[in-house]
Amino acid sequence: MSTEPGGQPEISPSAPGSKVPGMARSIFLVGFMGAGKSSVGQVLSHKLGWPFEDLDERIQARENRSIEQIFSQSGEARFRQVEHAALRSLVGDLQASPRVVALGGGAFAQPGNAALIEAGGFPAVFLDASAEELFERCRQQQLQRPLRGDLEEFRRLYDSRRPCYLKAALRIETGGKNVEAVATEVIQTLGMRESQPEGKER
Ligand code: S3P
Repeated sequence: MSTEPGGQPEISPSAPGSKVPGMARSIFLVGFMGAGKSSVGQVLSHKLGWPFEDLDERIQARENRSIEQIFSQSGEARFRQVEHAALRSLVGDLQASPRVVALGGGAFAQPGNAALIEAGGFPAVFLDASAEELFERCRQQQLQRPLRGDLEEFRRLYDSRRPCYLKAALRIETGGKNVEAVATEVIQTLGMRESQPEGKER
C-alpha cells in the first residue's frame, strides 16, 4: 500500500556538498529484515513530502496474495522473479513521481535489482545494525517472515548478504537509534533538505 502525505510530491533541492547529483529523484532504503526500512521510509516520506512505497506491498498487489503465500505456494525462486518484475515497474513509475522506496530484505542482494537501481541513478541507503539487534526487532514485531528462521539461520543469511548491502551508496548505522533520528540522519547524509510545512519559512 502506498501513502501519499501532503498531495503532490515536492522535490527538495540538494544542499551544497550533497552526495546526490543535482536533484534526488527517489531514495531506496535497503538492508536486512528488521532494519527499519518501512518505518524509517514512512517518516522520511513525511519529511521530504514524497510518497512512500514498500516494494513488498506492490508484489502482494500484483500477485493478489501475501508474501507468505507466495513463498509457501510457489517458493522463493518465484518470489524473486515477481520481486524483480515489481521493482522494474516501480523504477519505471519513478520518472513521473519521485518516492521513498523500502525494499524487502533480500531484494538488494539480487544483482539484477541493485543494477536497476544504480542504472536509474537513485541513491540506495543501507540501514545497518547487528544481526542480534535485527533478530530482536523482528521477534518484537511478530510479523510473518518466511526467511527469518532461528538466530543461527538468521545470522548466516545476514552474513551472506551484508557484502551486497555494503555496495549501497550510503550506510547509516541504526543500532540503538529511533526511527525519527535515523530518518533525519538519512536526509543530512544525503545533503537534502526537509520540505517546508505550508506557510512556514526557515
Ligand atoms: C525477505 C524479507 C522480507 C520480504 C520477504 C523476503 C528477505 O521483507 O521481502 O519475506 O529475503 O529477507 P522485510 O525485509 O521487510 O522483512
